[in-house]
Amino acid sequence: MRQKIVAGNWKMNKTLNEGLKLTTEIVNMVADEVRGDVKVILAPPYIHLTQLNGQIKNADRIFLGAQNCSQHKSGAFTGEISAEMLASVGVSYVLVGHSERREYFNESNLQLASKIDIALENNLLPIFCCGESLDIRESGKYEAFICNQIKESLFHLNEEQFSKIVIAYEPIWAIGTGKTATSEQAQEVHAAIRKFIAGQYGGEIAESLSILYGGSCKPDNAKELFSCPDVDGGLIGGAALKSRDFTDIVKSF
Ligand code: 13P
Repeated sequence: MRQKIVAGNWKMNKTLNEGLKLTTEIVNMVADEVRGDVKVILAPPYIHLTQLNGQIKNADRIFLGAQNCSQHKSGAFTGEISAEMLASVGVSYVLVGHSERREYFNESNLQLASKIDIALENNLLPIFCCGESLDIRESGKYEAFICNQIKESLFHLNEEQFSKIVIAYEPIWAIGTGKTATSEQAQEVHAAIRKFIAGQYGGEIAESLSILYGGSCKPDNAKELFSCPDVDGGLIGGAALKSRDFTDIVKSF
């Protein structure tokens, strides 16, 4: 059985007090309402991590994620946060290569390969994000584009390292637009990713890899998306900022 995961990416939203309130609500709702083997990951802004860790430490199923980390170990990189620092405040997962990081901060596949390495060295579990723009979708070459993102950032890993990776497929045209990929579109890409991974790492590792869908995932479409055979959960943006919506998505399996 593959691990089912729902991760909330808060992006640059919520003050500390707002974030603590949201977390309290999610912790309570998940404890009261969620059954079964699903992992819930909260990825708030960096400066909320320490206090959120205090809130979720004793909560079943809930883990802390960061939205990014530096590819450098330490030193003179003003404004950056290292993987080691994240681990030291209780972070378990880290998003690597979100499309907003790629687009607004020019993160390249090779730079992301370094971030993956340093995350793993510090026992953080990377959630590697990939996905195509509308132009690439319309050109029909999206599968090749996504496979290349994966190859350039992940295929230097050995099998043991690769088995720690979670992949999130987030078509850029579906992020924050209200335009979700259909379940057929999501399944098609997820199956293609799994097949590509199987070609490099073998069927067993590919079968145990969790692949999340992200992009306008909401309570009313999560059930259909999560019922696809190769969709193992979601990476949620907007709907992760509302405790009711987020918990309802967690309950969609
Ligand atoms: P939305 O759910 O707001 O479309 O954002 C998806 C996303 O980018 C999660 O990382």
